[in-house]
Amino acid sequence: MTRKVGILSSQRGWHAIALEESLLRHGVQPLFFSITDLAAWIGGKSHVEVHGERLEDCQALLVRTIPLGSLEQIIFRMDALHRLENLGILIINSPTSIERTVDKFYTDFLLRDAGIATPRTMVTEDFEQALAAFREMGDVIVKPLFGSEGKGMRRVSDEDTAYRIFRSLELDRYIFYLQEYIPHGMEDLRAFVVGDQVVAAMRRKGNGWKTNYAQGAQVEPVELDASLKELSVRAARLVGADYAGVDLLPAEDGRVYVLEVNSIPGWRGLRKTVSFDIADVIVSYMLQRMEHSNA
Ligand SMILES: Nc1ncnc2c1ncn2[C@@H]1O[C@H](COP(=O)(O)OP(=O)(O)O)[C@@H](O)[C@H]1O
Ligand SMILES: [Mg+2]
Repeated sequence: MTRKVGILSSQRGWHAIALEESLLRHGVQPLFFSITDLAAWIGGKSHVEVHGERLEDCQALLVRTIPLGSLEQIIFRMDALHRLENLGILIINSPTSIERTVDKFYTDFLLRDAGIATPRTMVTEDFEQALAAFREMGDVIVKPLFGSEGKGMRRVSDEDTAYRIFRSLELDRYIFYLQEYIPHGMEDLRAFVVGDQVVAAMRRKGNGWKTNYAQGAQVEPVELDASLKELSVRAARLVGADYAGVDLLPAEDGRVYVLEVNSIPGWRGLRKTVSFDIADVIVSYMLQRMEHSNA
């Protein structure tokens, strides 16, 4: 096997293994790298390595997690990815698109500034401004800026709760990210975009207003109409993601909001709704991109 593709993650978990198996089926050698063990040399024998194994020997890298860490740790991991990209290695998703999507504020303004419907949102470092924004919106979801799987989000609609939550966020120097609550039917849509296509989509029926699969939502396949497919692909394009999970919220007001674009989407829920292997779709797409970049 001549071609090598690295998988970067914190652990060799389910998604990493699914991608490794798919790479092997495609005649490509997978190499697993722990993203928290990166070492970068400037000058000397190698550029970026993990325990002596050089990442630049891979033709491409698939990034599966950027685990939580200190500001310095996260910036270093992202910088190392940028360095590898500068060395000509295809990285999926690109470090730039990961940076744009890991941060809900960044994704939101890219989408909204391109004319896509997103919920009204206020982001600040200041307690008083956060409280004033809460009073204005009345019913908000307080989200972690870097959250996922619906974890750590609270819906707040009374001022005492807002006061208590905001004070504790202030103590730990968190950013206040407040988003108006969009009344919906306790379900949303997840579009899985690869390249310029929605390769699968599912409806997620939540136990409450959070419709994440990780929060126990029931899933079923759904065929999106052409306009929602186009919206999903556009959203993925705007953040620069080669593949993405796009959350679409059909609201009671009849509009469809884009809630987020996930550049490291899981597919444990989605795989229950399809008859093909999603890892294979990602890997074939990546191999096509590799051929193009070699041409
Ligand atoms: N503004 C909102 N109004 C109503 N429900 C929301 C809103 N934002 C998020 N949700 C619900 O919470 C879920 C998780 O929110 P999301 O922004 O996608 O964060 P995460 O990255 O944790 O998945 C969504 O899938 C949706 O069900
Ligand atoms: Mg989500």
